Amino acid sequence: MERRKFIKTCCYSAIGIPLGASLLQSCGAIYYAASTREAGRLVVARSEFMKVKKNKQVSRDFVLLKTDSMGFPICLYKTNEDTYIASLLKCTHNGCELNVGGGIYSCPCHGSEFSTTGKVLEGPADRDLKTFKTETDHENIYIYLS
Ligand code: FES
Repeated sequence: MERRKFIKTCCYSAIGIPLGASLLQSCGAIYYAASTREAGRLVVARSEFMKVKKNKQVSRDFVLLKTDSMGFPICLYKTNEDTYIASLLKCTHNGCELNVGGGIYSCPCHGSEFSTTGKVLEGPADRDLKTFKTETDHENIYIYLS
């Protein structure tokens, strides 16, 4: 990593992470959705993407899911009404938990960035995130864990 980029990454991390985390928590952007596990898949109600903002129903861009068996959360990103992308928030460089925000996943450890489809945007990570097949019906989103 170049010196200038390293310094920039450190400054953003030192200032941005605590500020960003407090802002995200205070505005409720990070939301852990309820899910159930059945036959190798997680089931999430579509209604988990809805929230009330200024007395209006609006849709969340993403929700997080707890996965005890994997040790890291899954981010379920909504790309349109029937398409969702599920990515494990484990950095493929050295295994740090990724942050979600600004339409990307970012690693607080060494600065890697990933798109919401799990593709590497910025190293040092050189492998895409683990993603999971998803399906939907009129009521639920299904995430296949294998
Ligand atoms: S562990 Fe994520 S960039 Fe190193």
